[in-house]
Amino acid sequence: MLYTLTTPLYYVNDHPHLGSTYTTIACDALARFQRLEGRSVVFITGVDEHGQKIERSAAAASMTPQQHCALFSESYQKQWQRWDISNDCFVRTSALQHRQLVETFFQRVEAAGDIKLGHQAGWYCIGCEEFKDELAEATTTPCCPLHRRPLEWRDEQNLFFCLSRYQRKIAELVASPGFIAPPSRQREISNFVAQGLRDFSISRLNVTWGIPVPGYTGHTFYVWFDALLGYLSALLNDGGTVDLDRLVDVGWPAYTHVVGKDILRFHAVHWPAMLMSAGLELPKHVFGHGFLTREGQKMGKSLGNVLDPGVLLDKYGRDAVRWYLLRDIQFGEDGNFQQKRFSDLVNKDLANTIGNLLNRTLSMARKWFDGRVPTINIPLDHLLAQKATDSVTVMRYSMSNLSFHIAAETVLQLAIDANGYLNAKAPWNLIRQPDQRQVVAQDLYAVLEACRLVGYLLQPLLPDLSGRILSQLPETGYENWLDNLSWGLLPCDAALPEPKPVMQRLELGECL
Ligand code: MSP
Repeated sequence: MLYTLTTPLYYVNDHPHLGSTYTTIACDALARFQRLEGRSVVFITGVDEHGQKIERSAAAASMTPQQHCALFSESYQKQWQRWDISNDCFVRTSALQHRQLVETFFQRVEAAGDIKLGHQAGWYCIGCEEFKDELAEATTTPCCPLHRRPLEWRDEQNLFFCLSRYQRKIAELVASPGFIAPPSRQREISNFVAQGLRDFSISRLNVTWGIPVPGYTGHTFYVWFDALLGYLSALLNDGGTVDLDRLVDVGWPAYTHVVGKDILRFHAVHWPAMLMSAGLELPKHVFGHGFLTREGQKMGKSLGNVLDPGVLLDKYGRDAVRWYLLRDIQFGEDGNFQQKRFSDLVNKDLANTIGNLLNRTLSMARKWFDGRVPTINIPLDHLLAQKATDSVTVMRYSMSNLSFHIAAETVLQLAIDANGYLNAKAPWNLIRQPDQRQVVAQDLYAVLEACRLVGYLLQPLLPDLSGRILSQLPETGYENWLDNLSWGLLPCDAALPEPKPVMQRLELGECL
């Protein structure tokens, strides 16, 4: 079975920011992990190009929407390449075949009797591209709590999707264990559904930058109706026909949609109802992650404190940023990017704990054992063997639950334990006693083996650092990740290279 995983399709009104980079890195770690576990992964990302927000951004830059979208969509693709994101598809919702899919899907939903003409009046946020129902009663112009910009009053005739007809089914779905994670967000959505689902508009009048609704002159599809369908058109973008019945063969249903908490409703309520209406299978899981702030403040252009992922990458490299985001922030909760904590963690965890462990162990083994892995009878009940085996179990479990911070901490803890073991045994003293040589051999072997497992376990989280660690340790002869996660595979007597630092320390006080 294919394992389909998606990031949201990002609006092309601007270049990628740290928020979109965060989601994409998390999905990349998950995609890499699932591939290592042997699954056939389809990792989808892409851009959401229609709607008023994009139309206005293009106009402000004196470009056509097409020119604007081409420019920013390339900016996303380039940014993800620079981060070595392992996506299998990159979907653009302005693509012709996406348009064909939207039309086909709409016809199915209409045939199911779920489309009606209606009237909608309310306060609209262009930033969110949604009506703010909770502010409907406001008499003076309210501001969007998220974008902190005044809302616009809209009063127009639209086509509606009959979401209310799906009340019972959606209530059951959102209550079903594991569909929405983490549990705090599941409760939020269940409460929302319990208040009663209202039909939602799926078309706009007077928005030209959108896909025309077949049979309804002047209407274009509401950007959210069109965008969610991007997950399907990504899968059908294989040169074959735009045929919804083909979806089951190319990766639908998605296994996990990863989205920010602000757009969870669209994915956990609107989207499943649309799919039910079209007779398509539902995604298995929707994960709503939290928001990143910077030094405790919301990031925004107007505040002038947006963190440019490209600048972060140039200054600190992929490993440092991935480590900080995956290890320090509980995925699902809000997180706060703090410069000092960032450099402290990277230096402490990666340069000191992991980097030095490998470096000093390699140096000792080379010096005292003729540049080779010490030859010993490998004890499988070694203290570190037990710890490593537990780490493998916890790390794999945490990754499959998207608990990246626990996965990262687990790997780190193995390195901390190995360092502690080394300090307690003090082989630099023991080696001076000739009758203790075999004890030292056992100890160094165990620590080198722990380093090897740290290297493997880091593979989905920090592929670059993992590569640098493993390149300094002899190969086991096993290709497969899972095979390599067993204790005691480091070949005795294999040559050890001269150690090279695997992680540079970040300079303190460097300002972003
Ligand atoms: N285009 C829609 C998604 C359509 S999916 C079919 C959209 N795009 S977005 O570019 O505005 O947002 C994309 C994602 O970035 C959302 O999941 C949002 O939660 C996330 N983030 C935006 N700012 C963020 C932070 N400051 N921190 C973390 N993620 C944030 O919504």
